[in-house]
Amino acid sequence: MEPIVLTHGGAGAPASAKDGADAAAHRGLEEGDALAMALAATCVLEDDPRFNAGTGANYRLDGETIELDASVMTSDGRSGAVACLERVQHPILVAARVRERTPHLLIAGGGATAFARRQGFPDYDPGTKERRSHLERARALLLQRRFAEPGFEAWQILAERDEVKALWNFSTDYPGDTVGAVTRDESGAFAATASTGGTLFTLRGRVGDSPLIGCGVFAGPRGAVACTGAGEEIVRRFLAKTVYDALARGNGARATIDAALAEIPAAIPMGILAVTSTEHAHGCNREMPVGVAARPKVAPAPRRG
Ligand code: GLY
Repeated sequence: MEPIVLTHGGAGAPASAKDGADAAAHRGLEEGDALAMALAATCVLEDDPRFNAGTGANYRLDGETIELDASVMTSDGRSGAVACLERVQHPILVAARVRERTPHLLIAGGGATAFARRQGFPDYDPGTKERRSHLERARALLLQRRFAEPGFEAWQILAERDEVKALWNFSTDYPGDTVGAVTRDESGAFAATASTGGTLFTLRGRVGDSPLIGCGVFAGPRGAVACTGAGEEIVRRFLAKTVYDALARGNGARATIDAALAEIPAAIPMGILAVTSTEHAHGCNREMPVGVAARPKVAPAPRRG
């Protein structure tokens, strides 16, 4: 089967960052199996400070903390995830260790950071000046609208959906959401990844879709799916599993993604990548840098004589 890597730099990230998604896809394609391809590609995305994952991840509203969520799933059903992990360069590799070396699916908070250290991941500050100034603009907006109190320890806004949705349109320079990849290797195995600093308006300790299997990612024998966008909305819809199930029923990848996105209110950023044995597709209701790298099978040389 033709190996392929699809990557994205997050719903709402500028299309001008496509070179970063392309570089990640091509790096992934250098690896041999679907899992290694997805992890290598995601590390490149995490190292690119333009994207909201790893280096350049969003700060939480407290202004101090960067909490990283990541997950990986392979088509054999095995998965690993971390949530609210702190001070690690490549959260996706910590999620992969959870998959490989523990009987667990998800490790969170201080336990995740301690696990990372025990696994040899050194202390690393993923913060950047750009993200800090972004956060300051976001905090000023929240105070101006009286949606939060100084201290940012609780929301003032009601859980009214329309008010929550309005948050997404607050910032015209929204830095983008979760990054991720889907891969298919020569043997027909699949993998999906997600890695994020969480949404821009996020309380410390909040967990989104990215580390939740079936929400931010899903992979099975029929393909792999990675989602990006407003985590609460993705979780409500079990979006990755919902898309996977449609693909497994034989629906086309393009039509499946278009149908899923058509159900998302326009105010909410949302993007999806999918790959199956025969197809791949992506879609987003915002700008989203996407990279695709594939290795066509080399046809055997014709026999002479
Ligand atoms: N999609 C990333 C998040 O909501 O945290």
